[in-house]
Amino acid sequence: MPSSIIRKINGLLKTEHLGKVIHYFDEVESTNTTLFELALKGASEGTSVIADAQTQGKGRLGRTWVSPGGHNLYLSVLLRPGVGASESTLLTLVSSIAVYECLKKTGIQYPAIKWPNDILIDKKKIAGVLTEMEPKGDRADFVVVGIGVNVNMSRAVINREMGDFARHVTSVSENLGKEVDRAKLAADLLRELEEWYNTMKMRGKPAILKEWTQRWGGLNEKVRVSIEGLEVFEGIAQGIDENGHLLIKRENGEITEVISGDISFI
Ligand code: BTN
Repeated sequence: MPSSIIRKINGLLKTEHLGKVIHYFDEVESTNTTLFELALKGASEGTSVIADAQTQGKGRLGRTWVSPGGHNLYLSVLLRPGVGASESTLLTLVSSIAVYECLKKTGIQYPAIKWPNDILIDKKKIAGVLTEMEPKGDRADFVVVGIGVNVNMSRAVINREMGDFARHVTSVSENLGKEVDRAKLAADLLRELEEWYNTMKMRGKPAILKEWTQRWGGLNEKVRVSIEGLEVFEGIAQGIDENGHLLIKRENGEITEVISGDISFI
């Protein structure tokens, strides 16, 4: 995505704060890492970093986010929500809702959120969210919201880039049958994120938990939980608690709270 695209994003942007300052790079290690450094130096809320390619894109649980140039959106947005450190996990839910809504508005019909922050189409991953927080006492000094969207990767590119994982991955263009403008998608995503961030601030946690659950594809689904690659247990997904932790009903009727892990549908 050449830097002229940033001018295009600015022209399309309909936000009050988010994305008003955008730093664009042809290639960075990770947009989250770059923005984190800017945040430590005092960057203001809404400052964003976009890169065409990432050499060390970060995924959840220490994984790599495969980030080839020329196809996708790698976006990080700085928020200074002034909330307690534990409340900051709510921003992951807020961001997943924003990505979900943005994808729907491209014309994609059936996105679903997979706990905690994957966006899937037909059980294939199209986008992911990685939030990273800097604590200050018991508050969050700032939160970097990193969003990766597979935008214009064809099946051939997905197969080439994702290897064994390719069958679990899809892209916006694969679903729509046409490529989409990454600059417009970025502008739309920033707007959607601002809208849901404002919703969180105005309507609070219960509203976000409810909105997230409505878009979640897992309610009452039978799932297998694995933690650090080990298969741990199976059960029926019941919902999330007020900390965003997943609640699973085990065969004996007990409810287990999953704080971090991987869920597969069975
Ligand atoms: C996941 O699903 O595991 C989260 C993936 C998050 C990827 C995005 S791409 C932009 C930002 N920069 C990163 O290094 N990671 C996030």
